[in-house]
Amino acid sequence: MIEKTSLAPPAEIIRETLSKPSIFKSEEPLSLEYIPAKLPHRENQLKFLTELFRSLIDKPGTTSPKVLVTGDIGTGKTVLITKFGTDIARTAKALKLNLLYIPINCREYRGSLFMILKRVLQTFTPAFPQRGFSSEELLQILLDQLDRKNLHIILALDEADMLIKAEGETSLYNLTRIQEERPGRPVRLSLLMVVRDLRLLETLDRSTLSTLQRNIVRLEKYSSPQLESILRERAELSFNDGVVPETLVELVADMAASAGDARYAIELLWRAGKYADSEGARELKPDHVRAAQNSAHQVLRSEIWKYAQNLSAAGLLSTQLSSTGFRGKTTLLGLSAAPAADIRKWMESSLSGN
Ligand SMILES: Nc1ncnc2c1ncn2[C@@H]1O[C@H](COP(=O)(O)OP(=O)(O)OP(=O)(O)O)[C@@H](O)[C@H]1O
Ligand SMILES: [Mg+2]
Repeated sequence: MIEKTSLAPPAEIIRETLSKPSIFKSEEPLSLEYIPAKLPHRENQLKFLTELFRSLIDKPGTTSPKVLVTGDIGTGKTVLITKFGTDIARTAKALKLNLLYIPINCREYRGSLFMILKRVLQTFTPAFPQRGFSSEELLQILLDQLDRKNLHIILALDEADMLIKAEGETSLYNLTRIQEERPGRPVRLSLLMVVRDLRLLETLDRSTLSTLQRNIVRLEKYSSPQLESILRERAELSFNDGVVPETLVELVADMAASAGDARYAIELLWRAGKYADSEGARELKPDHVRAAQNSAHQVLRSEIWKYAQNLSAAGLLSTQLSSTGFRGKTTLLGLSAAPAADIRKWMESSLSGN
């Protein structure tokens, strides 16, 4: 027999669903964009990072620290540098120092130093010409501009793996050593680079390597109790009082602990809430968490996984957990929606802009 609800027109299903109460009071603290007020288990790293850049505040114009932050997926690299950046910019402003923090995600610019520098220059000169310069020239122009404005910048390059892969040693050398070609002039450019995979550094020349290797802030994977305290804070802000039992936070933390990935843990909790809501449950139960875990298999632990998730969300790729016959838990990726040839044709034409 067909269930009655499946005969309801879509608009009615949506209206009815939205009219039901939710166990969430605000989903925002569980969203990816949310910047938490506190960073449990990263306070020491935040302190150390601040020490490394301290001279920019104490003795402006004398040093230009180059710092590398590294750690696995979801270990808090982006949130750490975002917090640091906001706070150091605020401090500099209060002290009336000419110091700017400029965050760039290298992935957004496909790792192209030219595109990244153009973006940085456009923060000073919005109508900066589009063409006609090499990235080396852009770097010189940037330093000239900083001289003219008497500014120092901390250029924060998140997901710099992309930059290293796309550019290789010459660009990285220029970026890290440019100031040595300007003896006697004040230093203008400090670097804060986030690199997930330190092995990439081996592709650089020895002098760049030695510059970058000097100051490294390493973020270890989170343990289960650490994830638990991160989750507890978010859960309190996101869910109504009393709907998330303590043991449930432990369960989510345990499930995410093998990866040590806070993002996965937070998303798992959010999705579990969604399963609870769609059942009309009054509180979060282990079954909701299990359903949430099964709906997104966190197995691939490299860059590919991010892409796979996007493609799967767009309905182009199907993901399924393997049964027996595979070592451990393996996610099988497949093409679901359409024949491979059609998907390929569609992708090629959208990439070429036709
Ligand atoms: N110590 C922490 N306290 C509170 N929230 C945290 C902490 N560490 C990470 N998070 C949260 O976990 C999520 C993932 O963190 P973040 O994006 O910083 O990871 P990442 O190391 O940059 O990952 P990726 O390598 O995929 O870029 C974010 O929502 C972030 O706010
Ligand atoms: Mg990140």
